[in-house]
Amino acid sequence: MAGLMAAFGNFTHAVVRGVPTSLAKEALRTDNLDVDILKAKREHELYVEVLKQKLGLEVIELPADESMPDCVFVEDAAVVCGDTALITRPGAESRRKETEDMKRVLSGLNLNIVEMTDESATLDGGDVLFTGREFFVGLSKRTNQRGAEILADAFKDYAVSTVPVTDGLHLKSFCSMAGPGLIAIGSSEHAQKALKIMQQMSDHRYDKLTVPDDIAANCVYMNLPSKGHVLMHCTPEEFPESVKVYEKLKDHMLIPVSNMEKCKVDGALTCCSVLINKKTNV
Ligand code: GLY
Repeated sequence: MAGLMAAFGNFTHAVVRGVPTSLAKEALRTDNLDVDILKAKREHELYVEVLKQKLGLEVIELPADESMPDCVFVEDAAVVCGDTALITRPGAESRRKETEDMKRVLSGLNLNIVEMTDESATLDGGDVLFTGREFFVGLSKRTNQRGAEILADAFKDYAVSTVPVTDGLHLKSFCSMAGPGLIAIGSSEHAQKALKIMQQMSDHRYDKLTVPDDIAANCVYMNLPSKGHVLMHCTPEEFPESVKVYEKLKDHMLIPVSNMEKCKVDGALTCCSVLINKKTNV
């Protein structure tokens, strides 16, 4: 397990997908907010540029598909850990087709593909928090117990615990990993309650980084050989108070990335990429 932890956050590849124009009107959303589609596209281009240019990942870019308004949120279509990729069965029927291209791309990377074919199972990658030691799976409007069981079967090296998601779209709508053993968590009552459940269910003592805004707790952590600890997080324009918390992380290379428009359709930073460490499968 120590060896596995050493590789936590170490990624070589990312799969992303373009923003379809249909996202503006047709993407699923909790609140009825209008999206500026040009801004959303620009925002996403900058996100991809960070992965590619700044962090040097090999980025595989799927083209946007207008018939799939939520397709930019690739994280929901697959969970990749080590050399295994679980192709999910997304909770929203309108999103199920997104998994086909994801399966093709991940097969091309020679990952071991496990498909969630059970029609009683649903799981969105946004509900899956991998800590490097174990998985927490949010039971939400999108993910059910059977989905969590199939994930546990796919990743047998790790413990899998479920956490009720009582508010917000996904588990990672209010938390994510900000470093090895460090959980970023929102301040709302339901976020704090979920954290308490995760702490109770784990043998490990996680550190926590509490930010005032729930969605700002969704950040992208990497540990890259050439850069060390890297954190993509919200911008001061979006969440000034939460950024002040991130700025206390002195060992991390901090990269603010705007996500204002995609956020209006419940898309957080982790939603926009599937990160892979290809070195683990050679
Ligand atoms: N708009 C992201 C989702 O609802 O799945």
